[in-house]
Amino acid sequence: MGHCCAAFRRRVNVVGSTNQFELTESTLAPAGVSLGPMALDTIRDAVAALQSDIAAGPITPNVTPEEIRNYLTSRYDFKKTVPLDEVVADVERMLHTWQVQVTHPRYFGLFNPSVTLASILADTLAAMYNPQLATWRTSPAANEIERHTLAWLAAKFGFPANAIATFTTGGAEANLSAVIVALTRAFPEYGERGLRALAATPTVYLTGEAHHSFNKIAHMTGLGRQALRTVGTDRDLKMDVADLATRVAEDRKNGFAPFMVIGTAGTTAAGAIDPLRDLVNFCRRESLWFHVDAAWGGAAAISPVLRHHLTGIEAADSIACDAHKWFSVPMGAGMFFCRHPDSVAAAFHAETSYMPRKTIGPVTDPYTTSVQWSRRFIGLKLFLALAQNGESGYSEMIEHQTRMGDVLREALQRAGWRIVNTTPLPLVCFTRDGLDTAKFLAALHARQIAWMSEVRLGNGAPVVRACITSFRTTEPDIVRVVSEMSLLTP
Ligand SMILES: Cc1ncc(COP(=O)(O)O)c(C=O)c1O
Repeated sequence: MGHCCAAFRRRVNVVGSTNQFELTESTLAPAGVSLGPMALDTIRDAVAALQSDIAAGPITPNVTPEEIRNYLTSRYDFKKTVPLDEVVADVERMLHTWQVQVTHPRYFGLFNPSVTLASILADTLAAMYNPQLATWRTSPAANEIERHTLAWLAAKFGFPANAIATFTTGGAEANLSAVIVALTRAFPEYGERGLRALAATPTVYLTGEAHHSFNKIAHMTGLGRQALRTVGTDRDLKMDVADLATRVAEDRKNGFAPFMVIGTAGTTAAGAIDPLRDLVNFCRRESLWFHVDAAWGGAAAISPVLRHHLTGIEAADSIACDAHKWFSVPMGAGMFFCRHPDSVAAAFHAETSYMPRKTIGPVTDPYTTSVQWSRRFIGLKLFLALAQNGESGYSEMIEHQTRMGDVLREALQRAGWRIVNTTPLPLVCFTRDGLDTAKFLAALHARQIAWMSEVRLGNGAPVVRACITSFRTTEPDIVRVVSEMSLLTP
């Protein structure tokens, strides 16, 4: 059996099974068949070489659509074949030259992370085995690995053991799932007869800082974009609970049917965290579904240092959290958590003769509990990265980036910039008198100093937004960026 025997001799308790049994080498197929140690070493070396190449090279590309289209047309008519090694090399050259390098240590952008080696290997494995996770029967191993991983994070959020969770393509799908389930629970006739059967128009409450996916979701679910009620914020851009109460009361008086409040834990523009505890209390009193969009900030739940910023999340009805943001795995990997498994089942139930019969036992078939039907092994990248780095490795990674956020904030202040947002998370919005943000960013990108973006907070003027998204970003990177930035402005 060779090198892998020792691992198989361990006793393994199967999660969710009433019988505990021992897995031996005769139970599992031998490992290392395709991605053996040599292949792992090769991929590790390739990833390390790519990373140092990216770190040394440009962050922002300079190319027009015509240039890329002409290049593709001249090489790929799909009539003549091209050897695989040639196409792979060509694609790598294109990706290297013609994209914003989001894994660069000086990419201070939109929540797109650097990715761990383990999560890269996981995507390779998922593609190689191509497991179908729609039903438990077709892929027991993959389904249980996802369940095990999600149960770990659900516990970190403080959700009960019977909560249900699924991997999604990203935060937008997780938010969509939340709205569908909340509608189904509040209006049981919604599933069969649609919104037109309801006596009153349902309404949803969020701030202007909530993610824009909710506008599309209101459109897609049939609620209509006007069903979204924009609640006021305080000076730190957190939801104003008194304004929420006023709007809900007024809507009820005017014959609307409020059913859902959305709090954000780490807003996209400014990293603000809504007052989750107060919102939970309000929603309980008013019988409203409370969803927390923690697409980015949710990862703080695993850090003993940062967890308290999310207090209240444990009592939410549902949570969206992206593994492909602060958990540093490749896109797309979101997660949807819900404390009402019965409502999730009511929202997504499906039965048809061409699918395998319902699996008997303490398991669910994900195509009956989620938006997706065919389902990729999304969760493997989080599982593998967690297994390798452990909880403490992960929270160290998150705390490191938070420290780098503090370093950036302080360095900017020292250099005379004005910080215009308040958050404990590593996202800094800043400006200075007379700054032309667009011109400043164009120069920043052209000189390859760093990648940052423009944003408006509330109804304010444009400011610069810089978010630490890479576990590779170091203090010297930040010092260099801030000092080179000073040369760009008067
Ligand atoms: C707070 C928040 N929610 C939801 C989303 C949408 O997530 P995704 O792009 O993974 O669909 C984002 C994306 O940045 C976000 O910042």
